[in-house]
Amino acid sequence: MAQIGTDITAAKAFLEAGNVVGIPTETVYGLAGNALDPDAVLTIFRVKNRPSFDPLIVHTDSLSKLDRLVTHIPEPARRLAETFWPGPLTLLLPRRDLIPDLVTAGLPTVAIRIPRHPLTLALLRSLDFPLAAPSANPFGYISPTSAQHVADQLGNQIPYILDGGSADIGLESTIVGFENDQPTVFRLGGMGLEKIEAVVGPVSVRTHSTSNPAAPGMLSSHYAPRKPLILLAPGESPKPAERVGALAFREPFGGLAPDHQRVLSPTGDLNEAAKNLFAHLRVLDSLPIDTIYAEQVPNRGLGGAINDRLRRASVPV
Ligand code: TXA
Ligand code: MG
Repeated sequence: MAQIGTDITAAKAFLEAGNVVGIPTETVYGLAGNALDPDAVLTIFRVKNRPSFDPLIVHTDSLSKLDRLVTHIPEPARRLAETFWPGPLTLLLPRRDLIPDLVTAGLPTVAIRIPRHPLTLALLRSLDFPLAAPSANPFGYISPTSAQHVADQLGNQIPYILDGGSADIGLESTIVGFENDQPTVFRLGGMGLEKIEAVVGPVSVRTHSTSNPAAPGMLSSHYAPRKPLILLAPGESPKPAERVGALAFREPFGGLAPDHQRVLSPTGDLNEAAKNLFAHLRVLDSLPIDTIYAEQVPNRGLGGAINDRLRRASVPV
């Protein structure tokens, strides 16, 4: 069983020996390994049960280390990086050969991010290699926002989980790629679109794809609980029934047992809603209910990314 602790030296030793460890970030917890070591990267895929066509994000701690990993930084990418890193933003940049094929699933670009969590930044600074880290959940399941979430699902397969408390943001990073140096958003996430557009102007958003996705976080069924989740249309209420639960935005639904429901943010704060989203879904998944109804949230701020995750978690109706 994984040890849970705050010992950066222990995490570093495991990583230097080629093991994988759970790490905290401000978005969700990651399952980290040496990004330059194909064996460590293989272990990540194996532990997550992740298909090898789904590439990983490479985490580093400083812009000065970027040139070692990529061949070109488009001007808007540089501005985004300088403004938002460390932070919940991932940039797709042309890779150097140093990055193993397995990390990028053979793509010509590599996904890079400087995460904002102080423990993980200190860990990255102490290492002489970057960390490949997908979210630390079994493939397709809800991302973990606490060390305990990681332990619950992957604890018997990894030696150590660095405990950085519950994730500040609670949604995976926003992914931005560049074509002819023009930014395109491939995954909505913890960095709101408005903030990105304030720096680089209007961006196109391409997050829906069914076959052969450019970013498999785009797969339409993803981030899902085990129980069927039904997304309510705006204004719609769940049909009252005994073994039914709900994820509500500001207040619980009448007609359903209150203890079968979780509220994202009583004050309607979308940042708080994002932070609670995955933990609440995990709780609902463990209750004695057969179906989870979910209410959509307003599309402003992080609302668009929350609704995106709810759509992907839902069953088609
Ligand atoms: O917030 C996050 O991004 C978290 C933390 C741990 O950093 N990580 C995360 O990783 O969400 P993961 O593997 O669960 O999602 C990464 C997404 C995947 O959907 C993958 O397909 C996409 O990034 N991706 C990675 N490299 C890519 C590339 N070169 N081109 C397109 N998509 C890429
Ligand atoms: Mg993931």
